[in-house]
Amino acid sequence: MAVDLLLGLQWGDEGKGKIVDVLTSNYNIIARFQGGPNAGHTLVFNGKKHVLHTIPSGIFHDDATNLVGNGVVIDPVIFKGELDKLEVQDVDYRKSLMISRKAHIILPTHRLLDAASEASKGKSKIGSTLKGIGPTYMDKTGRNGIRVGDLELSDWKERYRNLADKHEKMIAFYGVDIEYNLKELEDEFFNAIETLKSLKFIDSEEYIYQAQKSGRTILAEGAQGSLLDIDFGTYPFVTSSNTTAAGACTGLGVAPNQIGEVFGIFKAYTTRVGSGPFPTELFDEDGATMAKVGHEFGATTGRPRRCGWLDLVALKYACQVNGVTQLMMMKADVLSGFKTLKVCTQYKYKGETISHLPYNIEEENVEPIYSNFSGWKEDLTSMSDASELPKALNDYIAFLEKELEIPITIVSVGPDRKQTIFKKQLV
Ligand code: GDP
Ligand code: IMO
Ligand code: MG
Repeated sequence: MAVDLLLGLQWGDEGKGKIVDVLTSNYNIIARFQGGPNAGHTLVFNGKKHVLHTIPSGIFHDDATNLVGNGVVIDPVIFKGELDKLEVQDVDYRKSLMISRKAHIILPTHRLLDAASEASKGKSKIGSTLKGIGPTYMDKTGRNGIRVGDLELSDWKERYRNLADKHEKMIAFYGVDIEYNLKELEDEFFNAIETLKSLKFIDSEEYIYQAQKSGRTILAEGAQGSLLDIDFGTYPFVTSSNTTAAGACTGLGVAPNQIGEVFGIFKAYTTRVGSGPFPTELFDEDGATMAKVGHEFGATTGRPRRCGWLDLVALKYACQVNGVTQLMMMKADVLSGFKTLKVCTQYKYKGETISHLPYNIEEENVEPIYSNFSGWKEDLTSMSDASELPKALNDYIAFLEKELEIPITIVSVGPDRKQTIFKKQLV
């Protein structure tokens, strides 16, 4: 069986967690392939909200296997926190949760290095979630990292000490004031490592290969969004992994010709948390309304998210680099009540009108060109069938489908599992 992918097409927080949860009943295995606890994936069902950071969003389904792939970076302390919460909910994760031996581990000093790096950047800081993501991937590509499989070796603590000592020297090198008590952080870390070691470590590429061969269905769950991709995002204001479709191949060991459907998720407007360019950002009442109605606060850091109109130039780009086959439009309910909706269809760039995403999209280089659409007044949150959707929303959807040349199969009208409208049959 092919491996299907579900990816964010904007700057993250599109609603990936919600849709993975909704789709899990169609799959045997849900697998995360990149990122780490910088992610915050929210699921809402039975009147309760759950936020997952490293654990795949299929974990609440008894019959699904949840795999943390080799491309993911794991902070044992945050991971343990997630497990503790699952335990309280009586989720039997020991049976269903597996971790790749090749996944890298975030050390306490990686988090400190993240903080030191950001502090040293001053105003040009990336706005990182400070979870140690950048420094951990740097150690991975620098070939210094510690992997989950290393925890099974007798000398891993020695290797830990050498790396942590080196990190301490690097922290001092930044010359910024970072206060920390490494002994305390290490006590917490080593305690969490013991919990991690009680879980199932596997050779995940072999597991996935055999699962595919025996006809089990697999959904790969992306973290962050395409515009935060290390190669294709708004560099340097990006994360440190490939968030796009190719990242699923390297992050799980799946061959490119084994990829099936690519589900691309986007909000009906746009949000971004952290620094970096955002051409359609709003600083007016409309932006404030989106933030308020959409409860736009980061699920990991609680920071307010910046809001703006939908950017079709950026969305098209994301569809291209990912090979999106089906689109899912989230938070349509948040736009109810706007008299006019705007969609950026082109940019004014260096005196020219362009339709593709250029190298520089900072404010001084790019001016969005908008098309206007009539809004709708109806509250969508209790709708459950595509036939109930207002005409103005259907026109908005039809325009996007025509421009992107990809069907929108799901329209989400609220945070709850049930507030999901299947507009077309999923392939
Ligand atoms: P993820 O990182 O892509 O999984 O998304 P987040 O969980 O960080 O952010 C999405 C937020 O929007 C969460 O608070 C969800 O509960 C919420 N959400 C998801 N879909 C909808 C929707 O259709 N309407 C509304 N109003 N909220 C939604
Ligand atoms: P999910 O999976 C939104 C952003 C940070 C920062 C930049 C780099 O929930 O969609 P990092 O911690 O990776 O060094 O931060 O990327 N960022 C996210 N924004 N959603 C996320 O994940 C994000 N993960 C990282 O705000 O701008
Ligand atoms: Mg999120």
